[in-house]
Amino acid sequence: MKQVYITGYGGPEKLHLREAPDPLPQPGELRIRVRASGINFADILARKGLYPDAPKLPCVVGYEVSGVVDALGAGVAAEWEGREVFALTRFGGYADTVVVPLEQVFDKPAALSHEQAAAIPVNYLTAWQLMVVVGSLSRDEAVLIHNAGSGVGLAAIDIGQHLGATLYGTASAGKHAFLKARGLHHAIDYRGQDWVPELMRLSGGRGVELILDPLGGSHWKKSYRALRHTGRLGMFGISTASESGLIRPLAFLKLALSLPLFNPVSLMNDNRAVFGVNLGHLWHENGKIRPWMEALVGGIAAGWVRPHVDRAFPLAQVGEAQAYIEARKNTGKVVLLS
Ligand SMILES: NC(=O)c1ccc[n+]([C@@H]2O[C@H](COP(=O)([O-])OP(=O)(O)OC[C@H]3O[C@@H](n4cnc5c(N)ncnc54)[C@H](OP(=O)(O)O)[C@@H]3O)[C@@H](O)[C@H]2O)c1
Repeated sequence: MKQVYITGYGGPEKLHLREAPDPLPQPGELRIRVRASGINFADILARKGLYPDAPKLPCVVGYEVSGVVDALGAGVAAEWEGREVFALTRFGGYADTVVVPLEQVFDKPAALSHEQAAAIPVNYLTAWQLMVVVGSLSRDEAVLIHNAGSGVGLAAIDIGQHLGATLYGTASAGKHAFLKARGLHHAIDYRGQDWVPELMRLSGGRGVELILDPLGGSHWKKSYRALRHTGRLGMFGISTASESGLIRPLAFLKLALSLPLFNPVSLMNDNRAVFGVNLGHLWHENGKIRPWMEALVGGIAAGWVRPHVDRAFPLAQVGEAQAYIEARKNTGKVVLLS
């Protein structure tokens, strides 16, 4: 099989395609011949040495794939052989073959291509947890989706629109027309201006009830201040760490110094809540994740879950694919094809 290894911390040149023997599924596992692998921003942070959850180097990252089952471990029902599936992988998804425990595997809806199916797991489960499970967004509320043009951002637009909420989003200006066509009500250019005054202007000075913030650092302070009373801040990423151009540990130090310190008494008196989401730390909670995925698969059939693949690159061009995302050119998902 072919796998993409991160061989050292640095630029896309640290990604190397290597041959390895085909893995054999162990009891309770099945093997998938991968057609498409999802790229997530965390993979880029891992390559830069800015993702604490990443495996030790050299490593193969990749959180999700779609493909066809071709071998079964002991105890897996024979009916899985040959099925088209999509799956969560932790890690190893940057490959043309993966072995995955059965509980992380889902039937691929026939309406989706493998590219679209590989765009579902991380983006939509993260957005679902942020908006539905913990964020409790309702139709009379407003949400601010930072990085609205990212994979998670587009998933959040789908879910927010389904819930009937008012949707604000920050993104690079070139993406605004597309995001509005997808259902975003108000787009804010957060790179050319401070997004807080613009959000306040657009919301008539009220702010919003829910903010999805993967930027981290000082943005978390600003997001907290932009909440209405009863507002919730969902923190789920540190994209700004990669913006500083610093390597670790300096990048982490800079980030740590800019973090807010939330005071319980202030939270109480402000009638606000803060929470965190890290899907990568929920693997042991499969009993929660599967019903979320069932709801999302129902959304595919109903038409409100619309995975959007911006571009697909061959597995061998993984460096170009990641550089494309780092240059902020993607609107929605970028996938690798095997
Ligand atoms: N905690 C979790 O479980 C979890 C799960 C999934 C994702 N996340 C986080 O959510 C965020 C989005 O992830 P994703 O995989 O959906 O993103 P993605 O599809 O790879 O999109 C990346 C986009 O983010 C924006 N961006 C923000 N800061 C950036 C930077 N420093 N360099 C380059 N682009 C930057 C750019 O769009 P604009 O310039 O238009 O904003 C870029 O196009 C990331 O911070 C990621 O770590 C967290």
